[in-house]
Amino acid sequence: MTPGLPALPRAVRVVEVGPRDGLQNEKAQVPTEQKIQFITMLADAGLPVVEATSFVSPRAIPQLSDASEVMARLKRIPTTEYPVLVPNLKGMERALAAGVRSVAVFTAASESFTRHNINASIAESLENFRPVVALARQEHVTVRGYISTVFGCPYEGSVAPEKVLAVAQALLEMGINELSLGDTIGVATPNQVVDVVGLLLDKGDIPAGSLAVHFHDTRGTALANVLMALQLGISIVDASAGGLGGCPYAPGAAGNLATEDLLYMLHGMGISTGVNLEKVVAATRFIAPLLGHAPTSKYYQAEACSRV
Ligand code: HMG
Ligand code: MG
Repeated sequence: MTPGLPALPRAVRVVEVGPRDGLQNEKAQVPTEQKIQFITMLADAGLPVVEATSFVSPRAIPQLSDASEVMARLKRIPTTEYPVLVPNLKGMERALAAGVRSVAVFTAASESFTRHNINASIAESLENFRPVVALARQEHVTVRGYISTVFGCPYEGSVAPEKVLAVAQALLEMGINELSLGDTIGVATPNQVVDVVGLLLDKGDIPAGSLAVHFHDTRGTALANVLMALQLGISIVDASAGGLGGCPYAPGAAGNLATEDLLYMLHGMGISTGVNLEKVVAATRFIAPLLGHAPTSKYYQAEACSRV
């Protein structure tokens, strides 16, 4: 443990969301073959979870309209899980048909964002998830639940932590056992992490092991927020190779916290992840030319500078 800091987890489970949260927001349409190669390289880097794509409406997210083909052609390795997003029963049925064994449903802590994102109220979204979770249980498929706009909403501004707690409890009661707390537009500061995560752990009595954090790095606070979450006992962190990402229904959302930057910090602090940082850099180097812009990961940029 680093002197002066509260106990930190010895190991962190890094959930790679680049192929989904990253590519869903890129202007470029990455060819299916290259998406599969990107996912394969990330799994080969040792990432225990690589969120691969979304079975949502192709009109909502045309970038991921090849989800069935990606999952049907992807060669999986047993040490990596390849979850996909599903918004409703139709998405779940498409995912199962493509051989998916792990899914994520997604709602939010603010009504306006939920309406813009999935055309439902929060209550309706939760009702839509019930048959998805029932089918998942029947098929022995694991389900993660995302809560977006946990620290702020692009339409409503601040979000009360109690709203996050109410949505979290509803998802847990449904039988979803891992929740990812999304800072969709990258506004959180570490004190807010204490407020929200503290409320869920203390008042909500939610086990720390059930919670993941998902920060977008729009305002440069993502790593500080992760460090605060680790100090509160959280040990599951979402990140995106190269810092790809954002959310098409969240104006101003920049990329996710970059996987490379997260790994550099964790490894430097003696926290193990089982992930090979240089192999993640190689995956980003592979996908970058297909995106038409430079990746925002600081570690990636520093590494690129040191190569010239
Ligand atoms: P809707 O228009 O209300 O749905 O959209 P609908 O049931 O009326 O259906 C409309 C059409 O879509 C129909 O087709 C359906 O068959 C079809 P039509 O008859 O008009 O030809 N449809 C589907 N097609 C394929 N797969 C499906 C599906 N469902 C319906 N699953 C809906 C509602 C939820 C479908 C839509 O709004 C949607 O797909 N939204 C997804 C938006 C999205 O993916 N957002 C990004 C992910 S969330 C995020 O990034 C945040 C996160 O990273 C955490 C954080 O950062 O906070 C997770
Ligand atoms: Mg996100």
